[in-house]
Amino acid sequence: MTDNEYLDPAYAQAYLAKADGIPHRVEGENVLRSFIPPTAKRILDLGTGDGRLLALLYDHCPDAKFLGLDFSPTMIAAATARFAGDPRVTIAQHDLNDTLPAVAPFDVIVSSFAIHHCTNTRKRALYAEIYGLLLPNGVFCNLEHVASPTPALHTRFLNELGATADNEDPSNILLDVAVQLDWLRDIGFDDVDCYWKWLELALIGGIRR
Ligand SMILES: C[S@@+](CC[C@H](N)C(=O)[O-])C[C@H]1O[C@@H](n2cnc3c(N)ncnc32)[C@H](O)[C@@H]1O
Repeated sequence: MTDNEYLDPAYAQAYLAKADGIPHRVEGENVLRSFIPPTAKRILDLGTGDGRLLALLYDHCPDAKFLGLDFSPTMIAAATARFAGDPRVTIAQHDLNDTLPAVAPFDVIVSSFAIHHCTNTRKRALYAEIYGLLLPNGVFCNLEHVASPTPALHTRFLNELGATADNEDPSNILLDVAVQLDWLRDIGFDDVDCYWKWLELALIGGIRR
């Protein structure tokens, strides 16, 4: 067992096996895609997993080159296999607890269900680094697992997933939407909002003007 469950190959594989079955995620993904300009040229996905979001945006942004970052060897292998030989997609190892790599800026940065594995202090710092890596009019969209406002709603969410408090992912560090939206505004993002939400699944984001 590791501090972050996704470094355990069996845990990472178990997530991939059930990823399609997470209720309502496709709705959130479709809203995310609707916020991404089809003219985007450089797109970064943080905690890419098997490259699910990159695949979502691949045809939507036909001129884009993609960088997917993850720290799990299992996920990197899965994403690399998905885009094998594709010159538009680069998959690289990076721990989101470390400062984002010094690379050319992006016009889109996305993430799904990954940043909530960082501490709250690191989440905020990461959002500021994301802002710093965006070009003018760059878009940030984070489809995220967020905290419920009440214990009853948390239990309801677990029930909807067929999960219980006993088998919750111990590496989840859930934080409510409002705090994260305030951070994004404070950092300087414009048009900050929760663009979509179902229980603990929320799409938050903003634009760097
Ligand atoms: C729930 S999965 C989501 C994967 C993918 N984004 C998706 O939507 O299917 C969480 C992902 O975040 C990655 N992750 C978690 N903590 C990380 C960290 N500190 N640095 C980099 N990646 C991390 C995991 O390896 C995993 O791929």
